[in-house]
Amino acid sequence: MTFLERIGGQHGLETILADFYRRVSADPMIGFLFKGKDLGRLVALEVQFTARAFGASIDYEGRGMRLAHAALRVSGGQFDRRMRILEETLRDHAVGADVVEAWLGHGRALRRAVVVDACEPPTASGAGLTSVGRSP
Ligand code: HEM
Repeated sequence: MTFLERIGGQHGLETILADFYRRVSADPMIGFLFKGKDLGRLVALEVQFTARAFGASIDYEGRGMRLAHAALRVSGGQFDRRMRILEETLRDHAVGADVVEAWLGHGRALRRAVVVDACEPPTASGAGLTSVGRSP
């Protein structure tokens, strides 16, 4: 059985991700980022995105991770919080440990695309920390 089959296929994936988005959107630390967002749309897109990561040959109709999250200016702490909520959700849905590990590993690999690194200037040419200590 594939990982996707073990969590009940696309339908099972949708059940898990609907619960996950309910939790993140109600979370005291990161819930505000989801205010006013169409959660049904986000669940549908993340179902596609995750199913593909698990090898399903279906289309992903959303934006790339960097573009989708750029305006949110997600911090490392917010990213970690989302990963923790994902881990808790997967355990509560009795997802097998090896599937959880693969799923979380796939998420962790996206960190650099999603998180805005506070140590980087906003643009290569923009004034940022690289200009500290230099004469104007
Ligand atoms: C592994 C990490 C992540 C994955 C796989 C992921 C996945 C996605 C996907 C598939 C979308 C829809 C793309 C689109 O709108 O076209 C999305 C949008 C969004 N994500 Fe993430 N995400 C991740 C991390 C985060 C984090 C850390 C946060 C906040 C703490 C976050 C908050 C949001 C919000 C608020 C949107 C809606 C953006 C908008 O419509 O303006 N995501 N994400």
